[in-house]
Amino acid sequence: MNNKIKKVRDYLFKNKLSRNSRYNFPLSDAKFYQQFLIKAQSRIINNGQIILGSGVNEFERNFSLWLKNNLDKKQILGVASGTDALELALRGLKICPGDLVAIPSHTAYATAASILRIGAKPIFVDINNINFTICPESLNETLIKNPNIKAVITVHLYGGSCEIDKICKICSNFSIPFIEDCAQACGTKYLNRSVGTFGDFSTFSFYPTKNLAALGDGGALLINKSDSNIMDFRSLRTYGWNSDREAIRFGVNSRLDELQAILLSEKLKDLDIRINQRRKLAELYHKLLFPLIGNSDLLSLPKSQENETHSYHLYVIRVNHKKRDLARKFCLKRNIPVSIHYPKAIHQNSFFSGHKTSLPNTERIVKEILSLPLSPYMKYSDVYKVVETLLKIL
Ligand SMILES: Cc1ncc(COP(=O)(O)O)c(C=O)c1O
Repeated sequence: MNNKIKKVRDYLFKNKLSRNSRYNFPLSDAKFYQQFLIKAQSRIINNGQIILGSGVNEFERNFSLWLKNNLDKKQILGVASGTDALELALRGLKICPGDLVAIPSHTAYATAASILRIGAKPIFVDINNINFTICPESLNETLIKNPNIKAVITVHLYGGSCEIDKICKICSNFSIPFIEDCAQACGTKYLNRSVGTFGDFSTFSFYPTKNLAALGDGGALLINKSDSNIMDFRSLRTYGWNSDREAIRFGVNSRLDELQAILLSEKLKDLDIRINQRRKLAELYHKLLFPLIGNSDLLSLPKSQENETHSYHLYVIRVNHKKRDLARKFCLKRNIPVSIHYPKAIHQNSFFSGHKTSLPNTERIVKEILSLPLSPYMKYSDVYKVVETLLKIL
């Protein structure tokens, strides 16, 4: 291992990229979008539309085109957050209090929170060992064991895709609808098709760190289920009102601001470039870290599934659990903003204490994962700096 570390270190120094490089890791892109903000602001001031105006309608169309959503272009709804989008999707599937919904336990807590908001109950499924998304075999077993499960939420994690063809097949075998949680997968493809276009519903988040980021909260719901009427969801997002402002069904308040929608439409124009930049930075991490792997179980790098095109929302490595927390602290002390997504599986949160599920892959992986800084605004020299710092501790 020492020889390998030396080789990478020599390489870093030979390229002189790590030495004296300034690094400040801009992980959010807020300051790069001032010009668009000014434009959006003046449009809003001129036409007086602040919430759910023409900017939202335009964004819904633009996002649909960007996804190359080959379904009806009007089936996208801008909402207030990714969590809201999940809740509306569950309501669209008529999930009721007490119903069971299967999800991977290795995901953002929001996936479970949307189920709890309805009063339904999450049933946790294990993940695979390749890209840590829901394990099809584990899902199949869970559905056999729990014949009352009413829906599945599958999560495309870190910018990788789950094995969506297998999930489609399993859900169809059990006649169970499924929702794709694409909050971390804007720009991810499976078999060259955008994720989010496979499930009965799919959901996106525009939280400020996401691949397509708003300057606040925002989200979208994509409605693929053929018997769903977009007007029902427009009503659901606004108190259950009809066009005469009469409440004709249950509804919530989940509206997208004009400011966010106009900004998001502008950002869509060069989103592909920024996602490609994420891929290039991930490639560089891979190239620099690969020589360190050897046969040891100290470190492993993100792996792609066959058929997926990763969008690298996050670059998550695995570090032996004996060293992971040490490596994290060491990096943070040196201003390298590493993170853990997520330190606990959902079923391990105290809110679920008493939950008896045993999910071996999930429980092992949460002790090993470490997210390295990645944003399209980072420089290559930032990546060298991260690797150089890791070398000192690994
Ligand atoms: C996988 C996943 N699902 C859902 C959400 C919820 O999105 P939001 O924060 O916009 O409500 C997030 C956001 O972090 C997420 O990462």
